[in-house]
Amino acid sequence: MIYITGDCHRDFIRFDVENFSEQKEMTKEDFVIICGDFGGVWDKDASGAKENKLLDELENKPFTTLFVDGNHENFDRLYSYPVEKWNGGNVHKIRPSVIHLMRGQVFIIDGKKIFTFGGASSHDISGGILEPDDPDFQEKRRELNKGFKPYRINHLSWWKQELPTVTEMQEGRANLQANGNKVDFIVTHCCAASTQALIGGGLFQQDYLNHYLEEIRREVQFKKWFFGHYHDNRNVNAEEILLYEQIIRIG
Ligand SMILES: [Fe+2]
Repeated sequence: MIYITGDCHRDFIRFDVENFSEQKEMTKEDFVIICGDFGGVWDKDASGAKENKLLDELENKPFTTLFVDGNHENFDRLYSYPVEKWNGGNVHKIRPSVIHLMRGQVFIIDGKKIFTFGGASSHDISGGILEPDDPDFQEKRRELNKGFKPYRINHLSWWKQELPTVTEMQEGRANLQANGNKVDFIVTHCCAASTQALIGGGLFQQDYLNHYLEEIRREVQFKKWFFGHYHDNRNVNAEEILLYEQIIRIG
């Protein structure tokens, strides 16, 4: 079985047995995929008691948890885990059964071919990104707080790796080509430019990741495309599905 859901932001209450009773029938050979903003690797270092408790609770679930990265992940830490091969693609194993599906990979999961590509531009940074070693940090922060302007702090709550590198995008193209540009599912955090225009009505600015995903949308055959980021549950069209708290079965 494969289930899929949207952004968690380190709140995994939806996986409590009262909210997700299907897990009673699941084993570690069954999967729940999170479409980014997992948030389970967030603290400054790996010693935090709360974070370890959350990750251990996921590890102790009867199913395997998989996630693509969103924009709200601690990329310094996420990328410090060793890269391993798993089911045909590259992963970081946070726990034996809590696994980060890296960008531009094609996995075979429960018989389904799945292309993954995490990352997105943060939309909650109109106040800017503060540098913690800026001598004016405190003053700038006070001003932003006073004006209720959303801001984030580099390496503490924002990471430039929220957007992909050229290498990651090329790896994605190459892996898709090696699979004849045909997969069953695409799982991302962000979505294609035209899809974003449909859901946002022009509210969201396009970036190079939206354009890259648009290229994939045009060139790759897929049955369904699942994504998160926009905090809503919505079938954008017959193939593209925006997920938030809902958990749906896809295999
Ligand atoms: Fe989010």
